[in-house]
Amino acid sequence: MSQIKNISIIGGSGQQGTPILKALVSSKNFTITAITRSDSPSTFPPEVQVTRGDYTVSFLESALENQDALIIILGVTAPKDLQSRVIKSAAVASVPWVLPCEFGPDGASREMMDGLPYLAAKKERDEIEAWGKSSWLGVVCGLWFDVNLKNAFFGLNIKERTVRLYDEGTTVLSTSTLDQVARGLVKLLSLPSEKLLKYENSFVYIDSFHVSQLDMFRSLLKATGTEEKEWKVTKVPVDVAIAGGRKAFAAGDHKGGLDMFVGTMFKEGSGGDFRSKSNNVDLGLAEEDLDEVVSQVVKQVEAA
Ligand SMILES: NC(=O)c1ccc[n+]([C@@H]2O[C@H](COP(=O)([O-])OP(=O)(O)OC[C@H]3O[C@@H](n4cnc5c(N)ncnc54)[C@H](OP(=O)(O)O)[C@@H]3O)[C@@H](O)[C@H]2O)c1
Repeated sequence: MSQIKNISIIGGSGQQGTPILKALVSSKNFTITAITRSDSPSTFPPEVQVTRGDYTVSFLESALENQDALIIILGVTAPKDLQSRVIKSAAVASVPWVLPCEFGPDGASREMMDGLPYLAAKKERDEIEAWGKSSWLGVVCGLWFDVNLKNAFFGLNIKERTVRLYDEGTTVLSTSTLDQVARGLVKLLSLPSEKLLKYENSFVYIDSFHVSQLDMFRSLLKATGTEEKEWKVTKVPVDVAIAGGRKAFAAGDHKGGLDMFVGTMFKEGSGGDFRSKSNNVDLGLAEEDLDEVVSQVVKQVEAA
């Protein structure tokens, strides 16, 4: 396999796709094509070639000709069979490297895959290898740090000054900012081919921090210039939270199911902490400064 030059991205206009595309363009290492729906309102940087279409098999196969790598980063509203169709088209077009829609929890962790039913679709990565034409690279980045801190998904609500700790709030998880994932992807796809082969059909672990809820809280205190007594702190046993979330999710209440997802990430031994597997050093990717990122998030929340 030769060095990656031509990259296609499908979903490159999304929350994570946008910073990935921006970082790929800034690197000047690649020729980039964004594949997008005919009726999508998405816009792309001028350096990116845009291929619009209806996502039929013939459209996808033709769009993927002469590509060295394909990044699939579709939103949850995309049709359930779309990733499989794209993967098959990439095989027909003989795209050597496919990065399937991972960008989250550790797919190699059985606890994580068994504990979170909606990760089942991630197993579509196996189809890439099965077609026998492409190899996959599965990007594991944990929960997006900036997005989930802003949304209060980590249990820390900046606006309302509340903290809800799982157990004592000391369990560590690995997490990445959107920009760190983008930087990691550029590093990965810029690797010389013999080095990239090390990751063939396996996961690549990118992270910004390995932090507990209490670490985030301490950083929030600094960023907001507040004291602990100004926040309402509650605690919930993580297993109780996960069980409640599981029940809500089964009843179709996806918002209520958040505790299943985030609780599992914060459960000791569940695979949410992938520190020992981090590929940051191998990729030449530096960790970020927690206080700096938290301070930026606080500014955004307070300005909203
Ligand atoms: N780690 C985390 O915390 C976390 C959180 C959420 C998601 N994720 C992962 O990241 C992936 C991407 O999430 P995201 O939030 O970046 O996605 P997003 O912004 O919701 O959507 C990404 C792109 O998907 C395309 N898309 C949306 N609906 C579609 C449809 N009906 N048919 C075809 N294409 C459609 C759109 O591209 P066009 O308009 O250009 O066609 C859109 O810009 C997820 O699937 C998930 O695996 C991770």
